[in-house]
Amino acid sequence: MTSNYFFDTMPRIIGHRGAKGLAPENTLASFKAAASAGAKSIEIDVTVTKDDKTVIHHDTNLNRCTNGDGPVLLNNFEAVRALDAGSWFAPEFSAEKIPTLAEALELTSELGMSLNLEVKPVDGWQIPTADIVGQQLKDDLPKDYPMLISSFSEEALVRTGHYVPHIPLGYLTDAIPPDWERRLIDTGAASLHVYHPFVTREIVQKVQAAGYKFLVYTVNDEDTATRLLDWNVDAIITDFPDRLGRLV
Ligand code: G3P
Ligand code: MG
Repeated sequence: MTSNYFFDTMPRIIGHRGAKGLAPENTLASFKAAASAGAKSIEIDVTVTKDDKTVIHHDTNLNRCTNGDGPVLLNNFEAVRALDAGSWFAPEFSAEKIPTLAEALELTSELGMSLNLEVKPVDGWQIPTADIVGQQLKDDLPKDYPMLISSFSEEALVRTGHYVPHIPLGYLTDAIPPDWERRLIDTGAASLHVYHPFVTREIVQKVQAAGYKFLVYTVNDEDTATRLLDWNVDAIITDFPDRLGRLV
């Protein structure tokens, strides 16, 4: 039986990659910025290095958000850890590193925020990524930690979930598949996470009537957020938890 502890405490506004609009995404500075902006929950992306370490990073490649080059998956942790993950955003963040999953868990807990952990495998590496992340969560996650695991990869989602069956799963998608209900049943997901242009009032009602939570990403515009909140979506994931936090 999946615990709904994450959902019991889920705020309607969740910071994206920490607070992507306020600090370099998926860094400890970004998690702190989200907390300072009033966020009670954040979404972050987890992937793995060549030597099977879990790190918090969105892209397949290191290039956009660090001074490194090439896939995270082709670099050992030591090399990934040596990179500057903040200067690309602003010079004052030059000390930021790519965090480990353990650091992210510890800091979010310290800051009193719950966590939507998105498992982000490179295509083809879904199973190893899920096994490494899942095993670490099984070993290290405090029992009552308020977490939601999500993924665009059904394979990675289900497999990660097997390691921590008490943690709810979120099914990530851009457009909503016609057979969304079958997919939620098959994966055991408790929530559907949808790219905002594809959201209608009718689909929110249908999904919620079927017993699932409805989350929307990534919304930064206040008018769009106001409309979605009026449609009763359960939560909005945003780069600007400061700005959207004022709406609720
Ligand atoms: O989990 C919501 C959102 O983060 C999904 O898209 O590409 O930002 O990970 P992406
Ligand atoms: Mg994400």
